[in-house]
Amino acid sequence: MDSIWIKGGARLKGEIPISGAKNAALTLMPCALLTDEKLTLANLPRLADVDTFSHLLNQLGVSTKVEGVKPGEYGRRMTMRAGDIASTIAPYDMVRKMRASVLVLGPMLARAGEATVSLPGGCAIGDRPIDLHLKALESLGAEIELAAGYVKASAPKGRLSGGDFSFPVVSVGATENALMAAVLATGRTQLFNAAREPEIVDLCNLLVAMGGKITGMGSGHLVIDGVERLHGTTYEVMPDRIEAGSYACAAGITGGSLDLIGARPDDMRATLHALSQCGLILEFHDRGIRVSADGDLKPLALSTSPFPGFATDMQAQFMAMLCRASGDSFLEETIFENRYMHVPELRRMNANVDIHGRSAIVHGVDTMTGATVMATDLRASMSLVLAGLAAEGETEVLRVYHLDRGYERLEEKLSAVGATIERRSAG
Ligand code: UD1
Repeated sequence: MDSIWIKGGARLKGEIPISGAKNAALTLMPCALLTDEKLTLANLPRLADVDTFSHLLNQLGVSTKVEGVKPGEYGRRMTMRAGDIASTIAPYDMVRKMRASVLVLGPMLARAGEATVSLPGGCAIGDRPIDLHLKALESLGAEIELAAGYVKASAPKGRLSGGDFSFPVVSVGATENALMAAVLATGRTQLFNAAREPEIVDLCNLLVAMGGKITGMGSGHLVIDGVERLHGTTYEVMPDRIEAGSYACAAGITGGSLDLIGARPDDMRATLHALSQCGLILEFHDRGIRVSADGDLKPLALSTSPFPGFATDMQAQFMAMLCRASGDSFLEETIFENRYMHVPELRRMNANVDIHGRSAIVHGVDTMTGATVMATDLRASMSLVLAGLAAEGETEVLRVYHLDRGYERLEEKLSAVGATIERRSAG
């Protein structure tokens, strides 16, 4: 199994191109199921999760064709076509590998009138149920049965009908499933307390480009007027705000200066605010954002919340960076119940962090030290890479497959800005 080896201590300096957003890609790809015409996505990141999603789509009868990228370029184009839906079953071994597989539920139900999708079960960061996905679809008339670990959903008379649903908790995935289902339903759907993440706006923009009728984009109140059919289009995936934020933390923790090429400030205001509270200098230019260290990092207090709040997907990376701040920081995780899995590993690198339920106190230390550490989930893995970049000595991050799910060619991007980092294959 591959690992990432890092020799810490270099101040990173230079440009990092920001790839297409993983979480946007994973909700734009299932839109191929909504039409029998071709859907082409440009700027798709080269990630294991994108490949897994494309295999799932293949199993459902969607053809996928990838156009190669030239050396040194990032992103690629994928053309998908769901002429017919050959199968409406998303099996356990797919959903188990990648929870986002449940995002085929809404579009399959809308297009084929039925869908059978494995329940995802737990994952490293918590319980993560899909009850809200199912309740939202029920409000569109879906009939849902749970049996043998699967959700079996059907639309009476083959078509969903518009309805209103108010989310008791903001859910990105449930909002996405509901949107993809509602675009082809009869009549009007209103979603209240919908997620407002930029990836949801990206999804709405694609659905509108395909002929969908949606208003309220970017707000918590989405109104969808169902249409008879959608058509194909070509659409560019938005830049990855979490990747950009992660590399911003790399500039901070190494005392360096990085230009995040293609990053969009409006997608990441809370992250940028936190970076500047930490004492980092931010400069905005027409190609992206420059993040530069300016003396010691300052401690801060952060609480995760749905967009436009501070993203839970940035919590682990900020924690790594705050390990080097001069003073005590306070973090609170309000979205997932088990999202401090990186803490025991960071402690092995000399971090001083106390956990009290969903809160963490990060006592800044002068020195982090290299160690062999184990990645537990995607963002946790990135926090270990960040710590390794700043640590004295060598760090080896095991279980790199987590990183490959969400960071396109991480070691290439980091070595291009001065890091001593390489991928090592075991055996
Ligand atoms: C998405 C992102 C993930 C991010 C998360 C929160 C993708 C592929 N993943 O995950 O990177 O960390 O948003 O920003 O886009 N919940 C329920 N019932 C449900 C659904 C969710 O109780 O049916 C709860 C969850 O357990 C969690 C909260 O709602 O506590 C938010 O989860 P949600 O926004 O749905 O996360 P995902 O869509 O799974």
